[in-house]
Amino acid sequence: MPLREIASKPYPDQKSGTAGLRKKVAVFQQPHYLENFLQSIFDVDTRLRGGALVIGGDGRYHNRTAIQTAIAMAAANGVSRVIVGQGGLLSTPAASHLIRTRRAAGGFILTASHNPAGMDGDFGIKYNVAGGGQATEGLTDRLYEHSKQIQRYRTLEGVYVDLERRGLQTVGSMEVEVVDCVDDYAALMQMLFDFDRIRDWFKRGHSLRFDAMHAVTGPYAQRLFVDLLGAPLSSIQNASPLEDFGGGHPDPNLIYARHLVDLMHSEGAPDLGAASDGDGDRNMILGRGIFISPGDSLAMLCAHLHELPGYRRGLAGVARSMPTCRAVDHVAKALGMTCYETPTGWKFFANLLDAGRITLCGEESFGTSSDHVREKDGVWAVLAWLNVLAATQLSVREIAERHWRRFGRHYYARHDYDELPASTATQVMQTLASTLLELPGKRFGDYTVTDADEFNYRDPVDGSIATNQGLRVTFGEAARLIVRLSGTGTKGATLRLYLERYENNETTLGWKTSEALAPLVNVAEKIARVADITGRRAPSVVT
Ligand code: G1P
Ligand code: ZN
Repeated sequence: MPLREIASKPYPDQKSGTAGLRKKVAVFQQPHYLENFLQSIFDVDTRLRGGALVIGGDGRYHNRTAIQTAIAMAAANGVSRVIVGQGGLLSTPAASHLIRTRRAAGGFILTASHNPAGMDGDFGIKYNVAGGGQATEGLTDRLYEHSKQIQRYRTLEGVYVDLERRGLQTVGSMEVEVVDCVDDYAALMQMLFDFDRIRDWFKRGHSLRFDAMHAVTGPYAQRLFVDLLGAPLSSIQNASPLEDFGGGHPDPNLIYARHLVDLMHSEGAPDLGAASDGDGDRNMILGRGIFISPGDSLAMLCAHLHELPGYRRGLAGVARSMPTCRAVDHVAKALGMTCYETPTGWKFFANLLDAGRITLCGEESFGTSSDHVREKDGVWAVLAWLNVLAATQLSVREIAERHWRRFGRHYYARHDYDELPASTATQVMQTLASTLLELPGKRFGDYTVTDADEFNYRDPVDGSIATNQGLRVTFGEAARLIVRLSGTGTKGATLRLYLERYENNETTLGWKTSEALAPLVNVAEKIARVADITGRRAPSVVT
């Protein structure tokens, strides 16, 4: 196979956002587009030369083509071994785990997460580094700078790897190992959770419904829930990965997993309802007639995790992203551990995890995980909940209500304004930013502003600074409003407004979230004027 250096011109838009590079499939299909991006990685992260590289994706359209390109380029760039999931599949957390156990120099995860897939959908690529975590801001910036200057890429001609055939193949002088996408991950899960106990819980007639949404978690759900834990096959649905995700939008939330929400509110609902997203890093948790918000799920897992086998030593600490509600802070305080507040995006947890400062972390955007990998992990969260249910013999509702009685309850919602003109979104941010200094001490209905600032973060491990991470208006313990711009959208700008209200009085714990938050929505409009400035009367999505 001849090695070729192919002349190419840079594409100026290859800046990775909070979760890699995401674009329409058609963008990725432009000549040399993917190649330039990958070559930037090979040029900048020199550890790949002579090292191992993990490759896998969420199974969306263009996955297999992109993997063949990546393998040919890896061989031409001196990678010694590629480890690739069979059929081109690897969930994001399973890829992170493989990078760790194989001591790989890095990994390409081909996904646009929950964004719709198919020919007209999105494609994406995340670069994870040695240790399994996402590329740091610094590395991302260097990749971007390099991508703007690139003039050539290297590849091997005529490469074709049979992605269905497990075992070793060679490409030039590089080895390609096709592995089962679930094996290593399933072994890890069995070290963390009490499978006997969960199996017993199923045997006693308890039930689960897990929706893989035709994305990557199907094979993982089949192996773990059905084959290993003995749940009936009807416990999993939409479990075969499809290139277009069945035309759906695999984002496990109240909008896109509505059918699951409806099922959990119907007669005969199972004990636990759960779903994951396109690449398997997000999770949604529901009990019979009850939705557990991600911030609550994080707090509840924080309160129970030390009861599970992999966490018996207790938690080192916990972290949540800034817009995530402060429920977990209360648990951390009660258990005497530090709670860190980081900017949005999983990569900010990595240093804390690597330094052993935290064991558990999570985001409001349906992401939760622990120090077992360096990504959020949807199936892990479902197993953790199953284990908590089996260990306590309580229902999801009982766990939630007990938790709220002890710690109080955080009512929470996120309002997204999608596809705004960039200038309009910026105007909202600038208008609010310009009034922040005047807000403290001001009263809005029942709420008095105690602090208002732009969130800037200094990483406690390496001292690096991240500025401009959202605007927050705090009303003491009682409430918070946060406004920030999304870093993952592919069409126009997305503005996010986050609302949080805390109640800790027995009579205030059973409200409907939308009603509990209604007064705060009015306050938010007075302070942030989103409707006024954007002309939108309502958010595009409420989760
Ligand atoms: C969104 C979520 C964020 C998450 C990211 C990647 O980013 O809000 O928590 O880490 O997707 O899944 P955003 O679009 O808000 O920048
Ligand atoms: Zn995802």
